[in-house]
Amino acid sequence: MAKGRSQLAETLAPKRPMTEVIAADGAALSEELLAMRRALFPPVSQKNLRSFSSVESAKLIGIADAYLRQLSLNGKGPQPKISPGGRRSYTLDQINQIRAVLDENSKGKQYVPRRRGDEHCQVMAVVNFKGGSGKTTTAAHLAQYLALQGYRVLAVDLDPQASLTALHGYQPEYDIGPNETMYGAVRYDDNRRPLSEIIRKSYIPGLDLVPGNLELMEYEHDTPRALAERSVEPFFGRVASALGTVADNYDVMVLDCPPQLGFLTLGALCASTGLLITAHPQMLDVMSMCQFLLMASDLLSVVQESGGDLDYDFIRYVVTRYEPSDGPQAQMVGFMRSLFRERVLTNTMLKSTAVSDAGLSKQTLYEVGRENFSKNTYDRAIESLDAVNGEIDGLIRQAWGRAV
Ligand SMILES: Nc1ncnc2c1ncn2[C@@H]1O[C@H](COP(=O)(O)OP(=O)(O)O)[C@@H](O)[C@H]1O
Ligand SMILES: [Mg+2]
Repeated sequence: MAKGRSQLAETLAPKRPMTEVIAADGAALSEELLAMRRALFPPVSQKNLRSFSSVESAKLIGIADAYLRQLSLNGKGPQPKISPGGRRSYTLDQINQIRAVLDENSKGKQYVPRRRGDEHCQVMAVVNFKGGSGKTTTAAHLAQYLALQGYRVLAVDLDPQASLTALHGYQPEYDIGPNETMYGAVRYDDNRRPLSEIIRKSYIPGLDLVPGNLELMEYEHDTPRALAERSVEPFFGRVASALGTVADNYDVMVLDCPPQLGFLTLGALCASTGLLITAHPQMLDVMSMCQFLLMASDLLSVVQESGGDLDYDFIRYVVTRYEPSDGPQAQMVGFMRSLFRERVLTNTMLKSTAVSDAGLSKQTLYEVGRENFSKNTYDRAIESLDAVNGEIDGLIRQAWGRAV
C-alpha cells in the first residue's frame, strides 16, 4: 500500500526538464574535472614539461652521450642540471640551444631541423570518421615528437570534443572562451579575428596550440547559410587561409580532425599537404574506414570542381592500437598492406597500457618519464611511437626534397 502511494507521488511530482538534468550533470562533471586537474598538476594546476636524461637528450640531438658530456665539460652550450646522484638532465630549451651550438660549427649535418629556403610548411591532417581510431593520440604524439626534434609546430584542435586541447592541459569548457578556437578565425561574420590572436604557446618549447571546444560546431551550422552568399570565401578554403596567415612561424602543422566529414574536416583536407588516415585493424573499423574513403572522395571531387586545392605530398594509413599477437588483427594489417601497399606506414602504433595510462592523467607518453612504468612496457611503447613518428618525419623531409 505504502509503495503504491510513493509511486503515485513520483508520477504526480513535477518532473525536472531533461535539459535541466543534463545541464546540471554537465556542470557537476566540469567542476569535478577541474578539481582533479588541481590535484594532478599542483600548485598552479598547470602542466610543465619534464627535463630529459642525458641519454634521452643525446638521442634527441642525434649525438653520442659521451660527446654531449664532452660539450658540457668544454663549456660549450648550456650546463645540465646535475642530481645529487650525479645524473645529468637537460630541459628542451637547453637541448635546442645545444642543437644551435652544434650547427654553428657543423659543415654537413643540420641539428636544427627547421625548414629553409623554399621548403613549404607541412600541414598534416589526421582523419577518419571512426571515433576511437586513435586520431587524437596520433596527432598529439606526432606534434610533440616533432617539437622535441626541434621543429616549430602548431597543433590545431578541430574536434569540438577537444581531446587534443585537454591533453595539453586545458579544460575546454572552462579555459577556452568564446572566439578562442579555430572557429574565431574561419567564421563568416564580423567577429572573425586573426588566427595569430588565437594561438597559445604550450608548455613545450616549439609547440603552439589552437585549442578547440564545442564552439567549433557553429561552423557546421553557419556554413549552409553562407553557401548561398557568393561574396564570401568558400568553406573549404577558410581553414587553409587562416593557417596561411601564420605559416611563416612554423615548420609543421598537425590538425586533429573531428570524427565526421563535416565542413571543418573538409576544410582541413583542403589545407593539408599530408594526410594521415588512422585505422584500428579490426573488421568493423576497416569497414567504417571504407565508408569514410568513399564519402571523402565523393565530397572532395565536388570541392575540387569548385576550385578547392587537393594537392598532397603524401597520404598514409596509420595502423593504431595494434596487437600483433592477435591473429585477426595481423590478418587485417596484411590485408590493408596488400591493398594500399606503400601507403600503409611500415611502422605501427602498438596497443599499450603505457599510452592509455598516460592518457588517464592527460599526458602523452613523451611527457611521462620511463620511471613510471615497467621498463619493458615503456620501451616497447615508446619504440613504436618513435618509429611511426620518425617515419612521418622522413616523409616530411622527403617532401622538402632532403635526403632521408
Ligand atoms: N596505442 C594505443 N594503446 C593503447 N590505447 C590507445 C592507443 N591509442 C589510442 N588509445 C586509446 O584509445 C582511445 C581512443 O583514442 P583517440 O586517440 O582518442 O581516438 P580518436 O581521436 O580517433 O577518437 C583513447 O582512450 C586512447 O587512450
Ligand atoms: Mg579524437
